[in-house]
Amino acid sequence: GGGEEEAEEYLFKVVIVGDSAVGKSNLLSRYARNEFDPHSKATIGVEFQTQSMAIEGKEVKAQIWDTAGQDRFRAVTSAYYRGAFGALVVYDVSRRSTFDSVARWLDELNTYNSDSTVAKMLVGNKCDLSAIREVSIEEGKRFAETEGLFFMETSALNCTNVKTAFEIVIKEIY
Ligand code: GTP
Ligand code: MG
Repeated sequence: GGGEEEAEEYLFKVVIVGDSAVGKSNLLSRYARNEFDPHSKATIGVEFQTQSMAIEGKEVKAQIWDTAGQDRFRAVTSAYYRGAFGALVVYDVSRRSTFDSVARWLDELNTYNSDSTVAKMLVGNKCDLSAIREVSIEEGKRFAETEGLFFMETSALNCTNVKTAFEIVIKEIY
């Protein structure tokens, strides 16, 4: 084979998981379109966006999948995780229950995608809400270290670390 038009192209699937209302959809819309919706509705089923970035002069595309945190709105779980090379596991720093759920999301990820090469980032979103914080940065960091995950606190509202969080995962895959 080897035709001239066979361009080098990379397309990686990345999934976002976490409890309802932690800000998964707004992290994605902030990253892909620089948009934030203060009144966003709960996701039903699955949505995705494709976003490109340049790594070492090559165009790398990430197909980023976003699904519902609420069980009753979720689509077929196995299809969601299949073929993913990266994952953002998101909690809300102002709601401890969402941090307590992280272990369950990791279990699900490992059940449906046992590929150990999945690059995983633990994301403490809504770091703008420091006045009502329930999970400290240290706690997030410690958990991530124990589980072998990257870690970052983000705010989809004020843009803190959103691009960085996605791009660390995408670069790690690449
Ligand atoms: P599901 O689709 O139900 O799983 O929820 P989700 O995780 O996609 O949450 P979504 O992005 O819809 O955000 C839920 C609420 O949190 C919305 O009112 C957002 O405006 C708000 N929100 C999202 N990110 C942030 C953030 O970084 N800071 C603050 N203060 N609010 C945020
Ligand atoms: Mg959503």
